Amino acid sequence: MTTHTPPTPEPPPHIAVLGAGHTGPALAKVLTEAGYPVSIAASGDPEKIALIMSFLAPDAKPRWAADAIEEADVVILALPLHRFADLDPARFAGKIVIDTMNYWPPTDGVQALFDNPSLGSSEIVQAHLPGATIVKTLNHIGYHELDESRRPAGSPRRRSLGVAGDDPAAAALTAAILDRVGYDTVTLPTLAAGRALQPGGPVFGADLTRDRFDQEVSS
Ligand SMILES: NC(=O)c1ccc[n+]([C@@H]2O[C@H](COP(=O)([O-])OP(=O)(O)OC[C@H]3O[C@@H](n4cnc5c(N)ncnc54)[C@H](OP(=O)(O)O)[C@@H]3O)[C@@H](O)[C@H]2O)c1
Repeated sequence: MTTHTPPTPEPPPHIAVLGAGHTGPALAKVLTEAGYPVSIAASGDPEKIALIMSFLAPDAKPRWAADAIEEADVVILALPLHRFADLDPARFAGKIVIDTMNYWPPTDGVQALFDNPSLGSSEIVQAHLPGATIVKTLNHIGYHELDESRRPAGSPRRRSLGVAGDDPAAAALTAAILDRVGYDTVTLPTLAAGRALQPGGPVFGADLTRDRFDQEVSS
């Protein structure tokens, strides 16, 4: 597994967060505070989320989802998996897409599209967004921890996040974004390897430094 962090991208990429429930605003807050331009969208009119976003992530721009995707370099999927099928794959062509979604039948129910034990959920997301480059991360940290778990680079107890993808450049960009937000990263070389990040896996919900995280996903 790769455990060095690539340099911070300049200028910072424009990021669109799809989902404005629990996870989306928490992501928008830490991303804007790290200096990234961020748009955020729910499923409908941005006016409906403008007031709550003015409190939760005031520097993020509420947008219609289609506009947020179009203007973004990187799109973060922070919507429930059962709403994934609503998305139009054509809009994601050429985008780096960070998939934070989890398939968790005990709480969310069985979904036929994702109920395949031989594939990770992000591999299925990749198959349905063929023009996009999917990176799996941020699914294994609670939304309420995203703010408080941030640490400056070099801090001895800095938390590590796993970054899994088939495209090394997209994974490196994602790792650099997370570093600037306040996290170390361990890069897993494929989306298939990212199954280790899923619910029930060795690092799901775990607050681990980079060495410990690397040991857990390598064993
Ligand atoms: N909860 C956590 O700690 C955590 C941590 C990591 C990852 N995740 C993952 O994050 C995802 C979201 O979880 P959550 O707890 O934040 O859900 P949530 O509170 O139910 O929020 C869901 C949001 O997704 C929006 N949405 C639905 N369809 C959409 C679409 N087509 N385009 C844009 N936005 C859409 C909803 O907008 P409307 O209200 O307009 O429908 C709502 O704002 C899940 O896949 C979960 O596995 C959660």
